[in-house]
Amino acid sequence: MRTSDPAVMELIDSSPVASVVSDPRLPDNPLIACNQAFIDLTGYGEDEIIGRNCRFLAGPGTEPWLTETIRDGVRERKPVMVEILNYKKDGTPFRNAVVVAPMFDDDGELTYFFGSQVELAEDAQGPSLTRRVRATEKIKELSKRQLEVLQMVASGLRNKQIAWELGLSEKTIKMHRGIAMEKLGAQSSAEMIRLAVEAGI
Ligand SMILES: Cc1cc2nc3c(=O)[nH]c(=O)nc-3n(C[C@H](O)[C@H](O)[C@H](O)COP(=O)(O)O)c2cc1C
Repeated sequence: MRTSDPAVMELIDSSPVASVVSDPRLPDNPLIACNQAFIDLTGYGEDEIIGRNCRFLAGPGTEPWLTETIRDGVRERKPVMVEILNYKKDGTPFRNAVVVAPMFDDDGELTYFFGSQVELAEDAQGPSLTRRVRATEKIKELSKRQLEVLQMVASGLRNKQIAWELGLSEKTIKMHRGIAMEKLGAQSSAEMIRLAVEAGI
């Protein structure tokens, strides 16, 4: 963790899932924050992570077409999820179910990208399907309005913008967001975004 922006810290610091944040306004979109779970997963120290583009996780077996999907998401500012072959610092390959999603500020300007990495077991077919099914089942619990709010949160919008888009007060959005988070059993906004992208909404 190496940023003073409270919004970034709030998003990833408490998350048990490996998470990073990059700053697309800096040259080559470097990482500006990571949490302990990311350090534990990859084996890299904070000094080797902050300031670098996240491509250091890629290696010889990384599927170029999946990297392309992430690149497209970044270019089009849309959330994406791929299950890509990545490498830890010691060279161990792992199947990474990575979500990359844009984050906008109150004025609708792109400020960050959020990334979240989950290591899948060797036979990735099983776990990934399970994650998707579980995410979909949880999301079914939401009311239409809560679903709408979740979709907007996952596309990187802040409460203020969501309120404006839906013609509701910010307070109402916070309420819907809180209930949605509870129903999804999510501990953080980061987890909520991940669930939404996993379910493919
Ligand atoms: C926030 C964020 C997280 C990312 N996480 C990963 C990741 O976990 N694994 C990966 O292979 N690429 C990840 N990427 C993509 C790489 O940073 C990079 O954009 C991609 O490998 C394309 O590299 P290139 O510009 O050299 O083509 C992430 C990108 C962003 C913005």
